[in-house]
Amino acid sequence: MFRQIVYTSQASEPVSESDCEEILQQSRANNVRDGVTGFLLSLPNGTFVQTLEGPPDGISNVLERIREDDRHTSLTVILDHTIPARDFPDWRMGYRAVRRDDLRTIPEFRNLGDSDFAENFDSGAIAISIMKSLYDANR
Ligand SMILES: Cc1cc2nc3c(=O)[nH]c(=O)nc-3n(C[C@H](O)[C@H](O)[C@H](O)COP(=O)(O)O)c2cc1C
Repeated sequence: MFRQIVYTSQASEPVSESDCEEILQQSRANNVRDGVTGFLLSLPNGTFVQTLEGPPDGISNVLERIREDDRHTSLTVILDHTIPARDFPDWRMGYRAVRRDDLRTIPEFRNLGDSDFAENFDSGAIAISIMKSLYDANR
């Protein structure tokens, strides 16, 4: 069994592609050590939504590191449960920078409507289903 969590947070400053590259490089190096896989979305308004899954101890370690990171604030765990198998089994942190255009052209986003886009991620289950379809499309 694995622990899976979804959290949202707010970037402290506007995030560039190179900021995200750095976060991903750190994640990929560290998460392997903790047995943690997952997916990170960055939304146009500066919201991050991340799924993390793995052994309970590994998740605690990663979450502790991420909570202390001053590149983001207001970290809120919106889903925390046990799963029988990983949704994101590859040894990499999946990633997608969501652009405003995506909200119109990608079906999963279109259904959310774009006015209160970040608020729609209050449901961790919706966030995971969107991440899974992006993850599967990129395999
Ligand atoms: C939105 C966001 C997501 C992050 N995700 C991860 C992650 O999945 N794994 C990880 O190890 N670090 C992640 N980080 C970076 C950590 O907060 C921390 O900076 C890093 O783990 C420190 O690595 P180091 O000790 O190797 O320097 C994330 C940071 C942000 C802002």
